[in-house]
Amino acid sequence: MTHEIDFRAGNGDLIKRLVWLSDLHLDALDKVKYKQFIDMVASCEADVVLIGGDISNGVASLSYLDNMAQMLGKQFYYVLGNHDYYYGSIPKIRAEAHQLTKNRPHLHYLTDNGIVALTKQTALIGHDGWADGREGDFLNSDVMLNDYFLIEELKRLNHPERLQKINELGDEAAAYFKMQLINAFANYERVVLITHAPPFLAAALHEGQPCDVHWAPHMVDKVAGDAIKEMMQQHPEKQLLVLCGHVHSDQDIHILPNLRVVTGKSVLGIPDMQGLVYVN
Ligand SMILES: [Fe+2]
Ligand SMILES: [Fe+2]
Repeated sequence: MTHEIDFRAGNGDLIKRLVWLSDLHLDALDKVKYKQFIDMVASCEADVVLIGGDISNGVASLSYLDNMAQMLGKQFYYVLGNHDYYYGSIPKIRAEAHQLTKNRPHLHYLTDNGIVALTKQTALIGHDGWADGREGDFLNSDVMLNDYFLIEELKRLNHPERLQKINELGDEAAAYFKMQLINAFANYERVVLITHAPPFLAAALHEGQPCDVHWAPHMVDKVAGDAIKEMMQQHPEKQLLVLCGHVHSDQDIHILPNLRVVTGKSVLGIPDMQGLVYVN
């Protein structure tokens, strides 16, 4: 399902159309389906492509990104998801993403990119984020994501050690969002924020149902949500649109009157456009 998200101020004219893609998991496609997907994205004639992580698995994700950006000939702004770190290490993959961005003028890794001007009044920011273990009951959860076997920093840890590590990953995203939102709101009225894990429990459905205490710690970036909500309470005159994925289930809610969160649906093997976002 493609969300049509009108994030324009007032009745102003459309200035830019963004296509938002998340949880593509392109490793599940053969070449024919991949080409069909690229053609579908090309047909919407967006100005800019936003990518919300879980592109494929591991470093293959960066190759797919590079290929998609070349085939579509658009500016790509992306964050990475947990799958994009499989068979590797978080700092190493982030360094590779950074390097790729330096070498490709059409690719922009938002996690280290700062604030992007979409229009005069609307900015874009993003960070990978991480489900930080603070929702639900991590220590008694019976869910073991592949993350905990396939990502260097998360494997070979016991439960309390793993919780501490994902707490830290969430904290990093929360501090980044706080800083970037303060800076963005000094110059912009509206911000689009893209991240991988939903920052709010209410935005994180699992197979269409609310996450239970076993799934929630692995799905929600609570500390980032707390930081984002605090920022929006401090800036009631500003507007924020959060785009997230990871749970593969649709949601579209207002956490506050000025804080809307849209979560993208994803079905393995059938990649879709999660949203078309209109800004001015
Ligand atoms: Fe995913
Ligand atoms: Fe994910």
